[in-house]
Amino acid sequence: MENTDKPDLSRIQEALTAHQRAISTVPLRSLSQHPERFKDFSLKACGLLFDFSKQPVNQETLTLLTQLAKAAEVEKARDALFAGECVNRSENRQALHTALRHPRSTAFPSKTQDVMPDIEKTFSQLKNTAKALREGSLNSITQDRFTDILHIGIGGSSTGTALLYDVLRHTQHHRIRLHFVETLDLTQLHDTLKHCDPKTTAIVIVSKTFSTAETLHNAASAIEWLSLALTAYQKEDLIKTHCFAVTNNTKTAVEWGLSSQHVFPLPDWAGGRYSVWSAVSFSLIASVGIDHFQDFLDGAYAMDQHFLTTALEKNIPVIHALLRLWLGTFFHHPYYAVLPYAHDLRQLPLYLQQLDLESNGKSVRQDGTALTQATAPLLWGTAQTQGQHSVHQWLQQGTSVCPVDFIACAHFEINENAQKTAALLFSQCISQSLTLMRGKTTEECVLALIQKGVDKTQAKKLSPHQMLAGNRPSNTVVLSTLNAKTLGSLLALYEHSTFVQAVIWQINPFDQWGVEEGKCLAIAAYDALRKHSDIKEATTQSLIDFFWDCQRS
Ligand code: F6P
Repeated sequence: MENTDKPDLSRIQEALTAHQRAISTVPLRSLSQHPERFKDFSLKACGLLFDFSKQPVNQETLTLLTQLAKAAEVEKARDALFAGECVNRSENRQALHTALRHPRSTAFPSKTQDVMPDIEKTFSQLKNTAKALREGSLNSITQDRFTDILHIGIGGSSTGTALLYDVLRHTQHHRIRLHFVETLDLTQLHDTLKHCDPKTTAIVIVSKTFSTAETLHNAASAIEWLSLALTAYQKEDLIKTHCFAVTNNTKTAVEWGLSSQHVFPLPDWAGGRYSVWSAVSFSLIASVGIDHFQDFLDGAYAMDQHFLTTALEKNIPVIHALLRLWLGTFFHHPYYAVLPYAHDLRQLPLYLQQLDLESNGKSVRQDGTALTQATAPLLWGTAQTQGQHSVHQWLQQGTSVCPVDFIACAHFEINENAQKTAALLFSQCISQSLTLMRGKTTEECVLALIQKGVDKTQAKKLSPHQMLAGNRPSNTVVLSTLNAKTLGSLLALYEHSTFVQAVIWQINPFDQWGVEEGKCLAIAAYDALRKHSDIKEATTQSLIDFFWDCQRS
């Protein structure tokens, strides 16, 4: 039966288009004058504040956007996601990353199969192995305790765990250091291994497919490094003792020589960019302990519950998603910045780039029909105040408007140094969002210059160069304190925001066919470079020829 209270999608979109024309004539600085503005356009949940009062919105905007979510049946899609329905239609898969942070003591209400027993089994394996490493009952081939863990992975098999480690490293085990190696350029591995002792280094190979070129190349090089240093031992014994793997492809990992007890399974329903909650973070658990990781899961679970149970108009991931659509699809802003004002969150933009753009960088709907409107704007970011000495010039006075999510921390629970500068960082952050919103008129520039003693003629000449258009929208997300739990809530917020946008665009956020072709061509190009085959494209062949000319010069 037709959903009678479901507003008509095209009528809503027409109303939003008309509303955008109207509200874009209202300066943000005048919207912000209303005394109730902050109260009406901010939300709190899960230890964070979501302030969207500096956005081009009024109550009518929120009503129309909420109707858009209803017309797109966001709630129905959300419930299908959590119920384990086949939401990833092109790969015929579920997307059950939310099950990974669901309390293991309670059943996960998935319509298909109960994934909780497997999750619980893997969690115990992670917990026990990490404990043994930390306590020294699981040691190296020379019976030394491990001092260094090399996490080898890329994309979703590394970035989220590395971000979590940046935040939690202040609590790491006194003996165990964690290193991340992602890139194909051996420089990174070489620079890392310089600080490691082969006798006491564990290697964790993280790859859902166990076929990613960068990861396997780095893993083989790291094992070679072990073998060359510990010549008294057979390579296969070194692999069995020093190596661990996290993968959906256990067969290949065992064929590589890993002990099956050292292989942690990754389910196929956990997409790479949604897998930080899984065994992918084994190396982190070994470094900082299972309790902090559980806090991280608990934070995400709290956001899941908020997303599942809160009315659309008060639902932080939903409102966040709707505002991103409002700015991208209706204001046509093709960029989006995430600017974390915390050193420990410096990898957050990189993490969100994969989460958002590998999910929503699509141009066809789930049913295969071509989209006629823009989808994911380019998400980028810098950390702390670095951007204020470079790209913020573009943000403030460039010809393009780039909406910003400022991520601020009111307190730093586990990083005392960051806590010492918490107020300084926070003041830098809010001054940027204020300037973007309010701008500075030429009259204000002239007055300011005259007050500094500049004569009126010179002041009028200079003012157009100093004027700031303002009217540049931003959200400010404030973590009450930065810890594992609030980080979990923050990452889950963005996961659900990405999902809601995909539902409204009717796209599949869980596949990533766009990156597959490049991977296949890279193999052909490498073969051609080694003259084992012909790349069959003249301009690319010329690049290969130039490469070889340079080797000879
Ligand atoms: O970029 C494609 C991709 O498959 C990502 O989705 C994934 O996180 C990354 O490569 C690593 O893949 P794997 O875990 O299979 O090595």
